[in-house]
Amino acid sequence: MGIDKRLAIIGGAGTMGTAVVRGLLRAGAMSPEQLLVAARRESSLAHLAELGVTLGTDNRGAVEGADVVLLAVHPGQVAGVLRQIGPTLQTTQLIISVATGIPTSRVEELTERDVPVVRAAPNLAAVVGASITVLCAGRQAEERHMDLAREIFGTVGEVETLDEIHMNACTALGGCGPAFVFKCIEALAEGGVKMGLPRMASRRMAAQMMLGAAHMVLVTGEHPAALKDQVTTPGGCTIDGITKLEERGLPIALIEAVETSARKAAKLFDS
Ligand SMILES: NC(=O)c1ccc[n+]([C@@H]2O[C@H](COP(=O)([O-])OP(=O)(O)OC[C@H]3O[C@@H](n4cnc5c(N)ncnc54)[C@H](OP(=O)(O)O)[C@@H]3O)[C@@H](O)[C@H]2O)c1
Repeated sequence: MGIDKRLAIIGGAGTMGTAVVRGLLRAGAMSPEQLLVAARRESSLAHLAELGVTLGTDNRGAVEGADVVLLAVHPGQVAGVLRQIGPTLQTTQLIISVATGIPTSRVEELTERDVPVVRAAPNLAAVVGASITVLCAGRQAEERHMDLAREIFGTVGEVETLDEIHMNACTALGGCGPAFVFKCIEALAEGGVKMGLPRMASRRMAAQMMLGAAHMVLVTGEHPAALKDQVTTPGGCTIDGITKLEERGLPIALIEAVETSARKAAKLFDS
């Protein structure tokens, strides 16, 4: 069954907004008539013209016609947009914010009324329908609002719900994580090239191998260490590679990458 609401996406011409628009339409969860997409500049919206959704640069107008408002602008633009649309917001509407590092309390404060707010931390893989999106509820958000947010983000991947205290860690692991993995894929592919593999074959192999390994963790539910042992024949070649990874500090580098990004995410709101 589809979502029986009208959704305004402020910043909908951007990477995340566009991913959600395409996800909803691809899944048949909403029809183009239910979607109002607003951006700052008309020219940014051109790539959405073929979808048949309503496009414009009037944020207030978009919000007036909506049941749900998805804020998909950069964190630094949230205050300006909320001050602009605040006077038109109704407590019957729901705000979902994907702005990294902005707490629900800040969004609530900026709306200056008791509008329910849900915060979402999706990632870039939403573009191909493979995000892991973490949701948390603001003060006024009820279970029905969370269900609606789950339905919307379920069209661009998997959805988890956690307390807001975890959101900076989720941003680091789920949101920044794809960049860490792209670095790993790039480096693994370089390893293949170093050993003489054709570039394209090496990149494809690295990416598909990573996808397959991730799929195994999710499908089997086994601990990654147990799966690693299944690959690592005693005295074989894998243990030599693993020894090199340990020697070079890969595990600690990844742990610290998540920690550092989470600490930075916590500071984004203050800066
Ligand atoms: N990309 C990711 O991987 C990712 C992951 C998790 C969360 N997020 C969050 O998602 C949000 C959007 O990120 P993004 O990567 O999609 O950014 P983006 O591609 O740069 O898109 C931002 C969009 O916001 C629009 N915009 C800016 N100011 C506006 C205003 N005053 N009124 C209406 N629209 C306005 C821009 O329109 P113009 O083009 O016309 O300027 C643009 O369409 C950010 O808060 C980010 O933290 C992103």
